[in-house]
Amino acid sequence: MSSSEPRRVGRYDLVTPMLPCKDEIMARFERLLLSGHYILGEEVRLLEEELAADCGVPAAVGVASGSSALFVALSVAGVRPGDEVITTPYTFDATMEAIILLDAVPVFVDILPDDLNLDPSLLEAAITGKTRAILPVPIFGAPCDMDPILAVAEKHGLEVITDMAQAWGTLYDGRPIGSCARMSTLSFYPTKNLPGIGDGGMVFCRDPEDAERIRRIRGHQPVTMNGHLYTGWNSRLDEVQAMVIRIRRERFADEQADRDRIADIYDSYIPETHRLRTPNGGRGMKVTYHQYWVRCRNRAALRELLDREGIDTGIYYAPPLHHHELAVYCRTSGPLTEAERAGREVLTLPIHAALPFADAHRIGALVGQFLEQEAASTSA
Ligand SMILES: Cc1ncc(COP(=O)(O)O)c(C=O)c1O
Repeated sequence: MSSSEPRRVGRYDLVTPMLPCKDEIMARFERLLLSGHYILGEEVRLLEEELAADCGVPAAVGVASGSSALFVALSVAGVRPGDEVITTPYTFDATMEAIILLDAVPVFVDILPDDLNLDPSLLEAAITGKTRAILPVPIFGAPCDMDPILAVAEKHGLEVITDMAQAWGTLYDGRPIGSCARMSTLSFYPTKNLPGIGDGGMVFCRDPEDAERIRRIRGHQPVTMNGHLYTGWNSRLDEVQAMVIRIRRERFADEQADRDRIADIYDSYIPETHRLRTPNGGRGMKVTYHQYWVRCRNRAALRELLDREGIDTGIYYAPPLHHHELAVYCRTSGPLTEAERAGREVLTLPIHAALPFADAHRIGALVGQFLEQEAASTSA
């Protein structure tokens, strides 16, 4: 890179936040290596206890990944072949894949333009005699409106499982989002807000018996539920991941404060019409900004401008899942207009604990100016 080229601002920086923990990780790794307890030892047990307490649930079970967590949680919730699970099309593939792996049918309803989460007012119209569960996904760390989702589920005798892969620390109405539903699933993929250095996941359970069933399944022991015999499998979280995640957990609040500050900086440049609208005016709601998104009609031009300035951006979920190759196994309920629009318009900006605030000001100013010019040219 020539000295005149601007320094690139990446979407993630996985290494810098590890540096303050490096010595502790290396020391604990050596102890682990020499202990011989590589699978389901003290680190996993303690991580499960600590995160269950953080999340306000009685039990949590470490599993191999966020995808695996979804699969076992849906199994334990009794999802059977032919059942329907209502979810959002504006999410990562894994949400849909876990349902399809159980030979069940993902049913997509549209999202809300303000927070990009599934629209609870559309749930009842999507329910059929085959509906077994609702699977909300607090996307990018913004809480879904859980109360109306839980109310519809209760009225129709449905299970609710929350895919909170992107939402560690997110609060809904003052409580951790992972404590609202029967089970909630988390990913420790390295780009997530609470990361490992490989794959890992967890299921948070309001009912300790669900946790027991998941412990059996993750360790090759069969389980009988609702008269059906389910096979066990290997879905274990390993000790190295649990050790690193425990160390990163200690720093989570500080890192979140940095993400919050960056989001505040972006918010100061970007009008509310073009970004996440603070849910419920902020009362009891905590957004953790796994991604910070901006909405823009001419997304390609904004992306190009930022790229020329050395700033990496992300595009999600384009096209949304109802256009995926696997959509042949899915059903849609009603038009998915907002999911389509989000897939066309949403651009994510760098946000992570190692991003200098000066960079956030520069990025926010560039985006703000672009949106102003765009608004002026459409009104002219
Ligand atoms: C919404 C959502 N669900 C599930 C997953 C799957 O998690 P993992 O990559 O740990 O399997 C992810 C990961 O990116 C995700 O973003």
